[in-house]
Order: sequence, then structure tokens, then C-alpha cells
Amino acid sequence: MPDDHERIQELRKEIERHNRLYYEAAAPEISDRDFDALLKELEKVEALHPDDAPSPTRHVGGRPLLQFESVRHLVPMQSLDNTYSPTELMEFLARVRKLSGELLLTFTIEPKIDGVAIALLYENGKLVRATTRGDGTTGDNVTQNILTISNIPATLKGTAPEQIEIRGEIYMPKQVFLRLNQERDEQGMPAFANPRNTAAGSLKQLDPALVAERGLAGIFYGFGAWTGQKPAKSSLVQEQFRTWGLPVSEKLLLAESDGEVIAAVEELGRTRHDFTYETDGAVIKLDGLNLRDELGSTSKAPRWAIAYKFEPEQAETKLRAITIQVGRTGVLTPVAELDPVLVAGSTVARATLHNEEEILRKDIRVGDTVLVEKAGEVIPAVVGVKKDLRSGAETVFDMPATCPSCGSAAIKDGVAWRCVSPACPAQLRRRIEYFASRGAMDIEGLGEALVGQLVEAGLLKGLPDIYSLSKEQLLELDRMGEKSASNLLEAIAGSKARPLWRLLNGLGIPHVGVSSARDLAARYRTIDALAAADRESLLKVHDIGDIMADAISAWFQAPSTHDTLDALKSRGLNFGDADSQGAAADDKLSGTIWVLTGSLSIARDEAADMIRSRGGKVTGSVSKKTTHVLAGAEAGSKLDKARELGVRILDETAFRELCGGA
Ligand code: IVH
Repeated sequence: MPDDHERIQELRKEIERHNRLYYEAAAPEISDRDFDALLKELEKVEALHPDDAPSPTRHVGGRPLLQFESVRHLVPMQSLDNTYSPTELMEFLARVRKLSGELLLTFTIEPKIDGVAIALLYENGKLVRATTRGDGTTGDNVTQNILTISNIPATLKGTAPEQIEIRGEIYMPKQVFLRLNQERDEQGMPAFANPRNTAAGSLKQLDPALVAERGLAGIFYGFGAWTGQKPAKSSLVQEQFRTWGLPVSEKLLLAESDGEVIAAVEELGRTRHDFTYETDGAVIKLDGLNLRDELGSTSKAPRWAIAYKFEPEQAETKLRAITIQVGRTGVLTPVAELDPVLVAGSTVARATLHNEEEILRKDIRVGDTVLVEKAGEVIPAVVGVKKDLRSGAETVFDMPATCPSCGSAAIKDGVAWRCVSPACPAQLRRRIEYFASRGAMDIEGLGEALVGQLVEAGLLKGLPDIYSLSKEQLLELDRMGEKSASNLLEAIAGSKARPLWRLLNGLGIPHVGVSSARDLAARYRTIDALAAADRESLLKVHDIGDIMADAISAWFQAPSTHDTLDALKSRGLNFGDADSQGAAADDKLSGTIWVLTGSLSIARDEAADMIRSRGGKVTGSVSKKTTHVLAGAEAGSKLDKARELGVRILDETAFRELCGGA
């Protein structure tokens, strides 16, 4: 039996090893539960023999937490008072002038970011803690999650104070939100309501790996504690943040008179849709920091700042009909056909209703006057119904039991209804469009309109038919000339040699997108090897979980898959065997996770392919899972973060050597 001291050493070593396996190699050997048991045992023996030695029980960086630690803010995180009209805003300006005893004051005007408030504590330039607002006095310690966000530096550039608490918002960029919801619609999962809630929900995930996938970003506008000398004005604070490498608002307007302040607020109102984040207003602050201290705050909010809330951009319009859109995987999505209306800067005539349950929950009826908003200011959505305007002639929507395209019975799958007919023409069109698209087989010229024509004419009944099209057939089509026909046939022929991952992505295997297609191609190298892979083997591939492993196995077992694959193979498509030549399919980089940053002499895609063809994975942001960073010239915050995390950093020469002198 080892004595307690020996056991402590043993456990610390063992736990650190598992931490490395989990975060750096992404190859855990034990379950979360077993890991927690080790940690608990260590805590217990350590309690009997307290010491100051470094211990995994004391530093962040373990497995997903069981719950967040509660942290007291150094300076409470307050809220802002709101105004809704120019008059109220002018009252605020007059109040500040009166309280400060000065008539000529400078104010800053900046967007109010609709995100989740966060406080980052940097000590001597290192991020040591990130805390949510919580109740304003105490919040949750979400440091591990914040470290996965690529635009938040783990280390501040240049000289930093001994201690500074940076305040700002975490948000989900509007485009990321749009993509996430499209994927969820496709997979029959309920859509997220808006970027703010999605960002908040993501930050609450206990597993940082999940947070890393959500594409969150940060933006910073204020501070709590700040030791030593600080700038005199908030406009200079913003400059300082920028120098440290912290993301700040691209707009910070300065104004003195009432008229100037109101004009600045109006400017932000006009341009609010151009920001990558959602804004629900403008924040007007006194620029001078000394005066701010003099004015102080009430129990809830500072006296030196106020929010001006923009009108929510909604529009009322008539819902004329609900149509059904058939997706590439057969999901039937109800779509609102609206009287065109202007909302948030563009005309909206159609809006997704996501799924049947959403329509029932909101009690949306055909003929209703509905409120349209852009969720995340990008996707138009029906957010409510003006029930008081109903005439009685409105009709309740019945989700059709059959597919509008092929008439076969629809099957309920999660919140979605799905057409599962392999012969459905709408699905076929979507599948071919996807197969030919830039992220898949990249067949130039084979776009939506032409695919529609070819399916209609009966020339395309499945993916393999693309490779049997003849010039004569093409020339029969409307608006198809000699030159375009030759170009198209050339593009089709050229696509046969595309790397395996493009084919895997294009085939439409459920849940498999670009990134997993690349991982699968790197792991199995040929379609035949992938088709033969069992569940256990699939689960070992990066980011492939139970659902995906099952979906992939089921897809390869379906008889229709065999027919498609046989036909594609006989038409000479690259099933992976061609990839293994040239770039030498070795396993040298197997298990490594890379981030590329800075400018390289070769194209990024090329460097990424060199890594993947050797079994490595390429990701976008540096986290604890990153094992290598390839840094080119002028590499910025990613490189800093890599240094902070002790990740191995290579320049191009070292990288080429590692790849075997390629
Ligand atoms: S200044 C003492 N500036 O909105 C609070 N806040 O509704 C000073 N917010 O609590 C906050 N964008 O979480 C400030 N540009 C901005 C902001 C902003 C968003 C948040 C912040 C605040 C909340 C109040």
C-alpha cells in the first residue's frame, strides 16, 4: 500500500497525463466519470496533507466541469438605465452636465451589443479568469469556455497592468447563427430563437469542446478593476484595448452638443445591420474618466452612461399561404408566403416557419396578420400573430402527410417530417445541387437552374447520371449552346479526380459535412475501407459521435447506396485510391490537431491538405486541444495563445521537414 504522500504524487501525475491525453492529444483513455473519481480521491488525500505544490485540483484545465464555480466580482457588474426617445436622451445629457458642473462635455456613442456580459481578469497580461455577470455581484467562472473563443487573447500584447478586469460581451456572429439554424433545420432539430440566447446557452455548456464548435466571439468596451495608471478618457481606453489585441467596436463616435449626440445615435441606428453582431441600441457615455468617478452610480446603474433602445424592427404583413420546401435529406420545412414587406433593411416575401410544432406553438393560421422579424437580423422569421385582427376566415394549417414533390408518405423524425422516398425528384434536385456545389465536387456550371432542367427532362435520375450526360442531350435543352455544353462536360469530367473528401461530402451521408468528410477521408483513405469500418472504429475518428457513427453505418448498408457507389465507381470517380499516391499517405501526423496562422508562402489549403493527408486535423482556433501551430509571417493573437498554452509552434521550414521534406 503506498502511503498518502506517494499516492498524492501518483494521482497528480496520472491526472495530468489524462488531462494531456484529453486536451492535447484529443485521445482520452478513461471516461469522464473515472477521471472525476481520480480527482475526488486526490482532493480527499490532499485535504489530509495540505501543501502548496501545483496540483490539478487547483488549476483550471481539467475535464468538462460538473458545475461552474461561483466567483465574486472585484467590482460589481452593473446594468444601464434605458431611454426610448430623443427627449429622454436630452434629459440625461442635461443631468450629466448639471451633476458635473460643466457645460462643455464630450460623450462617446457606441453600439449596444446584444450579447452576454463577461468580465475578463488579466494579471500581468495573462487571462486568469473569465466570469459571467450572474447577479452582478457573483457570476460563473467560465474561463475554460472563454479560452476556446478565437478572438479573445489569452495574453495581452505589450505591457499590461498588474491587474485589469476587462468588460464586454460574448456574442454569436449573425452569419454563424444563420448557418447553425440551417443545419438544425436539415437535421430535424429545433431551431434556436436568436443569437443572444444561443450565445448564452453555448457559454453554459460544461464541455469546452462544444463551446469551441459554436463560433462565438467577444467584443470589449469597459473595465472594472485597473491597477496603476489608466488613460484619462474612454476613447483612449479603446485605443489601449486595441493595442493589447482585444477586439473593440469598430464604431466609437464622439459628440458634444445634444444635436451631435442625437445625430450619432441615429447614425448607429441606420448602420446597425452592418455589424457582425446584433445591436438593440446605442450606449452614450461620458468620455472623461475622472468625471465618471465623480458622478458615481446608483444601486443599479452608473450616472454617467445610458442606453438608447432602438425600435425593434418588426413589420406586419399578411400570411397568404404556407408552402413546403423539401430539403436534400428529405426534411419538409414549412415556409410562410407573405405579402412583401420591408423589414430591417430588405424586402421579405418568404420566411421559414421551421417545423410543424413551431406553427402550432405560435398558433399561426393562413390569412393571419403576422409579425415578421429577422432572427439575428438575417433569417426572416414569423415571430407572432395579431390575433385581434382575425376575421374568422383564417385557416389552421395541416402539415401534409405526403411529400409535395413525390407524393410518398412523410415520416416523423424528431420535430421534423421527412420524405424518405429514394425517388423523390425534389430531394434529387437538392442532392445533385449539393453534390455539384463548390464545397463538394465543385462542378462549374451545374447550378440550381440547370439541375432543375436536367431533372425535369429525365436526364438526371441519380448522381451517377451526371457522368453519363452527352453533348447531344445537353444541346436539346433551352438556352444551351455548343460552348456551354462543352464547358460543362469538361467540368464534369474534371470532377472525377477530385479528392475523396469532396466525394464523401457530396454524397449526402446524413450528418457528414465538409469537416467530417475530410476527417473520414484522412482516416480511411478509400471508400471501400470506410464502408467496411465498424462502429467502434468510426467512433475513434475526431468529432464522430454515436449518432454520426450509426448514420454512416446505416447509409453504407442501404441497397440504394451500393447501387450509387457501384455506378460512380464504374464511371471512373476517384474512390480514394488515387489520393494515396503522390502526397504519400503516411500516418506521421495522426492524432495531431493543427491551427494555421499568419501568411505562408504556400496556399493555406495546400498546407492543410499536407497535414490531413498525413492523418492530422486542421482547426480554426487555438485551444487546449491544439497540438501544433504552423505560424507564418505576421501571425497575431493565435500565436500568442499558442505560446500561452505551451503548444508546439513551427515555422514553414520546420513544417516541411516534419512532413518529410515535401
Ligand atoms: S457599458 C456599468 N457599453 O448592456 C455598465 N454596456 O443593458 C456599463 N452592453 O450591462 C456598461 N453593449 O452588459 C456598455 N457598448 C456597451 C454595451 C453594454 C452591451 C450591455 C452590458 C450592460 C447591458 C445593459
